[in-house]
Amino acid sequence: MVCFEPSKAAKEFRMQHYKTSLADEAATQALGKSLAQCLLAGIVIHLHGDLGAGKTALTRAILHAAGHQGTVKSPTYTLAEPYEILVKGEVTKLMHFDLYRMRSADEFIEAGFRDEMNEKTICIIEWPEKGDGILPLPDLAIHFTIAEIGREVELRALSDKGNICLSQLHFAPNL
Ligand SMILES: Nc1ncnc2c1ncn2[C@@H]1O[C@H](COP(=O)(O)OP(=O)(O)OP(=O)(O)O)[C@@H](O)[C@H]1O
Ligand SMILES: [Mg+2]
Repeated sequence: MVCFEPSKAAKEFRMQHYKTSLADEAATQALGKSLAQCLLAGIVIHLHGDLGAGKTALTRAILHAAGHQGTVKSPTYTLAEPYEILVKGEVTKLMHFDLYRMRSADEFIEAGFRDEMNEKTICIIEWPEKGDGILPLPDLAIHFTIAEIGREVELRALSDKGNICLSQLHFAPNL
């Protein structure tokens, strides 16, 4: 019988996938700080998880670690909030979306949000499920689950860009 072992190169190129526990909000903040170090221009990150799971907390930590000094509020009613951050020394636009209250695709399109989906702007999207069909495919999907203590988090690369990003992450055990 011939067994095909994945080659070393194939193993190195498989999609990055991490899972870990975040015992408290400080751990969520630490993950955000680590993620801020490996952001790439134009990366699209989808954040999944129930209400209060930690999506905004993570986004806030990413923004602060990437140089934003002001407050970070959940864009619950505006659907989106723009920021400028530093990515590898370059000023880069980051859009933080929360689509929980989005009523229709028209609302998104008429607000001009489709134009933000370009090769430069970083997009972090809470409740991407509500934008099914109008959002670009994510480079990275992050799933939060509320646990007995803290949160469980899973990070999955879904494109080459997401893979490059996560391969630079020094935080969670790689699966
Ligand atoms: N690892 C953690 N363990 C316990 N609590 C946490 C952890 N990370 C964040 N939190 C807390 O959980 C709450 C998360 O709220 P947050 O607004 O980030 O949720 P969300 O996922 O954005 O919810 P929504 O869908 O309503 O926007 C905050 O009160 C925060 O302090
Ligand atoms: Mg939120």
